[in-house]
Amino acid sequence: MQSKLYIGTNTKMNKTIQQTVAYLEELGIYTEGIGREKLELFVIPSFITLDAASKIAEKAQITLGAQNMSWEDRGEFTGEISPLMLQESGVQVVCIGHSERRHVLLETDEMENKKVLSALGHGFTPFLCIGETKEQKEWNIQDETLRKQIKIGLHGTTKEDAKHIWIAYEPVWAIGVGGTPANADYVEEKHKLIRNTLVELYEDLGNQIPILYGGSVNNENAKELIRLENIDGLFIGRSAWEAKNFSKIIHETLEIVEQENLLQNENC
Ligand code: PGA
Repeated sequence: MQSKLYIGTNTKMNKTIQQTVAYLEELGIYTEGIGREKLELFVIPSFITLDAASKIAEKAQITLGAQNMSWEDRGEFTGEISPLMLQESGVQVVCIGHSERRHVLLETDEMENKKVLSALGHGFTPFLCIGETKEQKEWNIQDETLRKQIKIGLHGTTKEDAKHIWIAYEPVWAIGVGGTPANADYVEEKHKLIRNTLVELYEDLGNQIPILYGGSVNNENAKELIRLENIDGLFIGRSAWEAKNFSKIIHETLEIVEQENLLQNENC
């Protein structure tokens, strides 16, 4: 685990502007007693909410993310959002390659790589999401798949860049309605593989990249998952969309992390 616990949510195509504002306000109140030196709390709402959300997020000490980003600054790309636009909207993190973008919208590793490089170039934290599909798991090529997604997705990044990168491991078969939660042993095994691949790329700095787990995380499995050695945090969908429940998960996991002394000393 890193020196703080990473927990966040992507609201996907849910919550209007008003609902997002109310959600952030509520979440801010529920978490105001938690020192942010030990918690990186982030919310990734839809683009249209960002302007209003940014005004509350800062006060509530919630890091704001975008769900996607074009790799181009401007031009004939109807429907895309440029990094220059995001720079004006209070966004610090950009989610890249969420499984729904890869599998519903057919984004490729090469596209994710261009977005990662563009995000870094514009001062954002690229939050690269990776994960194997059910078929890739059945074919027993999950490790190859994850390594490929990391190596292509992060191609051309430097050790300096490594300080700004976050990763989410989200097995596609575990995500969303109808997803099957992954068991803890499997998650730890894959997180270890991801960690080793990052160390291969960036040597010791690879150990400092937060690796979050996502896919049907809920109040119950969160407590087990957060104890795993190579898990630095949780990336939660449905269970986080109600501020009260999300804050319950945050408080409970943080309590475990603190009681069991899992946070790494900053000076280590
Ligand atoms: P879920 O979504 O927690 O609802 O499965 C996770 C995600 O898509 O990041």
